[in-house]
Amino acid sequence: MLPVDVDILINEAREAQRHAIAPFSGFTVGAALVTDSGRIYRGCNIENPSLMLSLCAERTALLKALTEGETSFKAMAIISGDGRYCFPCGACRQLLAEFAPEIEIYLVSDAGIKKYSIPELLPYPFIK
Ligand code: THU
Repeated sequence: MLPVDVDILINEAREAQRHAIAPFSGFTVGAALVTDSGRIYRGCNIENPSLMLSLCAERTALLKALTEGETSFKAMAIISGDGRYCFPCGACRQLLAEFAPEIEIYLVSDAGIKKYSIPELLPYPFIK
């Protein structure tokens, strides 16, 4: 398995964030997901006037990868527009726990980078 190049992954997340569609919240988020084989999938948040149909950056990236048949995930970088650490919401944590339980999560802020595991972010997950 390839080691994670965190700098590259963060740059990919930053690029993804540029495409965020967030006219309602003004809060742009980018995520980049790297598979065990080294392929990178980007995601951004996509808001919708109904609001309930809005998608987070993390889920966008994960669903893109799942759609392409990916099954093993190494790491995800997440960055937001306000310079603070952007922790994934509960729904994203649940999906990551189901489909990428071993993934390393890198959160980026103006102050630096923090690394988390899924058990740290979502202890006692519902897994069927
Ligand atoms: N959002 C994400 O994309 N990822 C997160 O981890 C938290 C929130 C998005 C959803 C919505 O478009 C905006 O940020 C404000 O909540």
